[in-house]
Order: sequence, then C-alpha cells, then structure tokens
Amino acid sequence: MCGIVGYIGGRNVKDVLINGMRSLEYRGYDSAGVALMDAPELHIVKGVGKVADLERILEDHPVSGSQGIGHTRWATHGGVTEVNAHPHSDLSSSLVLVHNGIVENYREIRRELAEGACGDYKSETDTEVVAELLSRLYSARGCMVEALVELYARLSGSFALVIMAREAPGKIYCLRKGSPLVVGTSPKGETLCASDVPAILPYTQDVVYLDDGDIAELSSEGILFWNASGEMLEKIPTHIDWDVTMVDKGGYPHFMLKEINEQGAVLRNSMAKRLAEGTVDLSAELPWTKKDVASWKRLHIVACGTSYYAALVAERFLETITDFDIRVDVASEYRYRNIPLGPDTLAVFVSQSGETADTLAAERIAREKGARCLAVTNVIGSTIAREVHDVLQLKAGPEIGVAATKTFMGQMAVLYLLAIHLAKMQGKLTPEQEKKYCDELTALPYKLESVLLRQESLQETAMLYNEARDFLFLGRGISYPVALEGALKLKEISYVHAEAYAAGEMKHGPIALLDPRVPVVVISPKDGLHEKTFSNILEAKARKSPVIAIATEGDDSLDGTADHIFFVPETLDQFTPFLTVAPLQLFSYFFARFLGCHIDQPRNLAKSVTVE
Ligand code: F6R
Repeated sequence: MCGIVGYIGGRNVKDVLINGMRSLEYRGYDSAGVALMDAPELHIVKGVGKVADLERILEDHPVSGSQGIGHTRWATHGGVTEVNAHPHSDLSSSLVLVHNGIVENYREIRRELAEGACGDYKSETDTEVVAELLSRLYSARGCMVEALVELYARLSGSFALVIMAREAPGKIYCLRKGSPLVVGTSPKGETLCASDVPAILPYTQDVVYLDDGDIAELSSEGILFWNASGEMLEKIPTHIDWDVTMVDKGGYPHFMLKEINEQGAVLRNSMAKRLAEGTVDLSAELPWTKKDVASWKRLHIVACGTSYYAALVAERFLETITDFDIRVDVASEYRYRNIPLGPDTLAVFVSQSGETADTLAAERIAREKGARCLAVTNVIGSTIAREVHDVLQLKAGPEIGVAATKTFMGQMAVLYLLAIHLAKMQGKLTPEQEKKYCDELTALPYKLESVLLRQESLQETAMLYNEARDFLFLGRGISYPVALEGALKLKEISYVHAEAYAAGEMKHGPIALLDPRVPVVVISPKDGLHEKTFSNILEAKARKSPVIAIATEGDDSLDGTADHIFFVPETLDQFTPFLTVAPLQLFSYFFARFLGCHIDQPRNLAKSVTVE
C-alpha cells in the first residue's frame, strides 16, 4: 500500500528519496512526504498529491541533510490531508517516522498516553500515536533497539516502521510486522531501506528482507539486525536478478503499455529451464515425489483480483489433464470459510507481489491445517515466498503499472507448466500429449507478439466507444475468466463500469442492460464452445448493442454480425487465454488514455494490498 524509503549516504538525500518514492508510487499515492535530518535538526516537508507535487513544495521549501526517510501514502486512517501525510513526529518532535500498515490498537494506546501528554495530536492517524509511544519508550530506555522491542510487543496489526531520532544521529531504524520492508548496502557504503525492491535497485541488487519482529539499524557502517526479543541476528542478503532498466519506462508513455508489450518475453522467461524438448520438468524447484503427489487428492488455488482470474483459467486446464478435486477461491473468502483441507491437499497461492494480506492469511490457515503450500509469485524474497513449502517464480521482472498485465501472463504460464508437471506425476499424460502441449507453449510467445504488433485497430475501436459508460464482457468456458480480467482492466484504469458474465448467464439478467449505448465485448475464439457464444452475440445484436469480438484468425462466422472483430492466431482450445487477453489489455489501455486517466496509478488502487 504505502511506499517507504530511507537513505544514509553521500548523495543528495532529497534526490535519492524522491527517486525512490517515484519508483514506489504505484503502492499508494494520495499524499507524500519526506523528513531529512541535519543533526540535530529534523525537517519534515509533506503535502497532498503525487511525488511530483511534493517536489514542487520542496522547491519552495528546500531542505538538506545527511540522512532521510520518505513516504507515499495510500490513506487508511484519516482523510487525505497534509497533516495526515507522513512522516509523523511525536508530540515533542524528538523523532520522526513513516509507517505502512494499520495499527489496530492505536485508540487504546492513545487513551493510555493521554496522561502526561505534552500537547495535542495534529493528525487523525494511527501513526502519530505510534510515534508518541515510541518516543516515550525511547526516553525511558535510552536505547532505541530496546524501545523497538517493547513497541513491537505493544502494537497489534501490521506495520513497517522507519524511524529517525534526534538523539540517534547517523542512524535509521526499521521494524517490521506484516508489511514488507527490505534493506540493503550499496558498494559505495550507502545504506537504504524501502518497502519494495525497485527503490533500492539503482544502488544495490543485494537486499535483506526483514522478517516479522526484525529490527534493523542502518548507519554508514552498515546494517545491524535484532529479533523481537532483542537478540542480535545475522542476515544473509538475497541477490535480486532484476536490474535498474527494468524499472524504467524504456521510452513508452506508460509502464502499463511497456509491460503489455513485454509479455512475449515473459512467456519465454517463464518457460526457460522448465520446458525443453517437448517436456516439462519442475523438479529443480519442486522436490515432490510421485508418492507425494499421489497423496494429494485435493488441489486448492487461492488468490485475489487478477491473480484469481489467472487461477480460474488454469483451473480449466488442470481439470482436463489432472485427477484432483479442484477448488479455486478468492483469498478473502477462503480464509473465513470452513473448507475441508489437510495433508491430502496441495494448496497453491498465486500472488504477483507475494504480500497480499488476504492471500497470506489464507496460506497460513492452509499450512496450519497440514496442506502442502506452494506460492506462485513474482517476488522471490516476498513474505509468501518465505513462508510456504515450495515456490515457483514468475520471472516477469518488476511490474510497476498498478494494473497487472504481464504478471497475469506469467501466472497463466507457470500454472500451465505446473498442471503438466502434476499430470505427468499422476500418470495422466502420455508423452505425445505432453509434447503437443509443450510445442504449443513454445509457439505462444511468437503468436502473442504477432497480436501485440497490431495495436492500431484496438486504438481506433477504443476511440470509437469512448463515450460508453457501461460495458458487458462475455466469455464461455476458458474464455469466461478472460472476460472477467478484461472487465477488471477496463474498470480499474478508466473508471468506466464494466461487468463480466459467463456468456450463458447473459439471459439470466444482464441482457436487461443491453441497448445501443452498451457495447458488448465477446471473447469468442474458435473452440468447442464457439457456436454457443455465437448465439449470445446474436442476442446482443438483437438488442442493438454494438459487439466487439475477439476471434480466431480464419474464422469468418462473425463477419457481418460483430461490429468489430479483432483476430488472434489459432491455438489449442485450452491455450486461447494467452492470446485473447492481450487485445483486452490494450483496449482498456487506449480507452483510459483517451479519457486522460492516470493509467499507471489509477485512483484508489494500490499495487500491493498489504492490509485486509
Ligand atoms: C488488478 C490487480 C489486482 C491484483 C490483486 C492481487 O490489475 O493488480 O487485482 O491482482 O490485488 O495482487 P497480488 O497478485 O499481488 O496478490
């Protein structure tokens, strides 16, 4: 949600913070602020708006210092105002801190602290109360690490905190529970912390992911670690194989467009070292024996948002080639239901960020009940990756646009490889079938790239319907989750209402919405259900709705019926989502662009939803 960055080093501290905050803006961005320490002075500058707005404020109120912390805020407690923006200080302004997460017991703490308070709180935030509590603990102990140990024990909820105190010049402290925080040291002796790797990447590729309860002390000498009991820890850095060019727009007007165009490469990377010569082998990453696989009767796939839709696509492939009793659920529901699961369950958690609070909670429940837990994630050091038994990484590279595109593609690819791997281990796949699937997977990047080369007609269609404020997306079978994903993309970046339905359900209600002002986007590849979907197109046309169809090259059955047809290359019925989703991503992108929306940072959304 919020983005945090901290820096100690010889560069211009304000610039490092601003650059780091820019690369984290996708996490939350209704306000932003920095605090710089020029010991013993602490300067806070903050405001409502984006990082660019903060930069303008900083031009009018220049500050300098040898260390600093910064924050981009996605409001939880308290409205979007300058006073609620971070950093916050305690009542006597002896320390400043930034916070990502929600401290659930802050009202109780605020009541306790009322006695002896030497002033009034300025903001409505939980964070300011935490600053005051920490300040009192620090005054009482005289040691920040001891104060943080006690703070950790007193706070409930989730928090990543980064702190600077007047009495501790040259140091930045970090404390984590539930919300992600990484720290790193550059070869030039700079030390940094951030809520996500892109902010640190220009300085170092070796980072330490803090675990819950970890305390880190950053200084120009390096980084020291303690656990929640105050015992010193050794931490081994993880090497991140992303480089700084990956967090650059690379000449594209938006990250989203860049990331859509990278999808051919994402497919190739997802398959590299996992698929070769007509066979899939995941044994280097999944140490499962045939006996293990035979012991799993149930297969659960749990995720949120776009990741959930990737799981729904994969479900349809898995149910045709494996023998599991499959359940796919959204994490926010799964975690509160009494779902039968246990050691006979393989539970797969799909999360691009690996930090989504609901997905993490669902994973913890499944693990506690004895399920074998596998994470499919793009971020190798993420919380989920560190908690589960097994991990499959997406290899999509950093995704900066808030709307997930290339990670959806990577998720489908990895889940398909997993399906083939499991089917083989269950003895359900002949070498010929496996080869057929592998050959098609290998061909997909080329086919997808041919789709991505033809963006003009999508741009024209998006422009044509720019006045529409309601869209219906329809798909059957494996195209139904693609319709869901298409509608989600359109609504999240253009704020236009888009609803997706299983095409066969249209007659059971949504058909009432149809009229010439409601375009219907139909995902209708030439598969076993094509005829059925065609009937739905005719029904939409009979209500005078314009129809935009995604169809298979060479299929002329829609000519004269659909108003606009975008063709994708032929592929196996089960593989069409890899090709049909791309035109929908592009359509949404161009549609939102014509409306002048903030495509990479849509309102109210955050890239990683670390609170429930
Ligand atoms: C939509 C989108 C969200 C995420 C969802 C889960 O474009 O990005 O719906 O898919 O918040 O996030 P992860 O995959 O990080 O768990």
